[in-house]
Amino acid sequence: MKKRVAILISGRGSNMTALIEAAKAKDYPAEIALVVSNRPDAPGLSRARSAGVATAVVDHTRFGDERKAFEHALDAELQKNRIDLVCLAGFMRLLTPWFVTRWSGRMLNIHPSLLPQFKGLHTHRRALEAGVKRHGATVHFVVPEMDSGPIVAQDSVAVREGDTEETLAARVLELEHKIYPRALRAVAEGRT
Ligand code: GAR
Repeated sequence: MKKRVAILISGRGSNMTALIEAAKAKDYPAEIALVVSNRPDAPGLSRARSAGVATAVVDHTRFGDERKAFEHALDAELQKNRIDLVCLAGFMRLLTPWFVTRWSGRMLNIHPSLLPQFKGLHTHRRALEAGVKRHGATVHFVVPEMDSGPIVAQDSVAVREGDTEETLAARVLELEHKIYPRALRAVAEGRT
């Protein structure tokens, strides 16, 4: 039985698209059953719909400061769709320990750096400022501490002379689209 996966997005959803494409393969051990966005205007939503994937919006602004209520609504959507695994793909909300613990060992995130370097935002800018020679992306299990948790997949590119935040981001994004499908396959097959 294929694992039922929900992808959580907030924006354009290019990693989501990479996962949807990978999951079309007959032998892929997971199916993308649902895409959820916390933003009603996320461009990724229409990309998911045109790929024939069910979508849902759980708009965090409707819950004000009630982070727990937002997460309960999110969790209810996942339960309703009998989700086995969750993939965060550019989902820009911090999740509380309650939600993270509930999905412990069943939730992955992709982060645009070679963790544990450059947790948080603006990773490409910070990598250039730090003068690192290699930079990359990481897929990891989500734990309560931000951008931490056991690493499932990681890959890197060389930082080039003259790289800007944009050129480096573009090369890292290409990597992301390769490692996320690989990581999800490994987790869905129980190889972690
Ligand atoms: C990706 O680069 C992802 O690694 C990053 O946001 C981008 C989303 O792009 N995630 C984070 O920074 C999480 N802290 P996408 O919507 O095209 O997949």
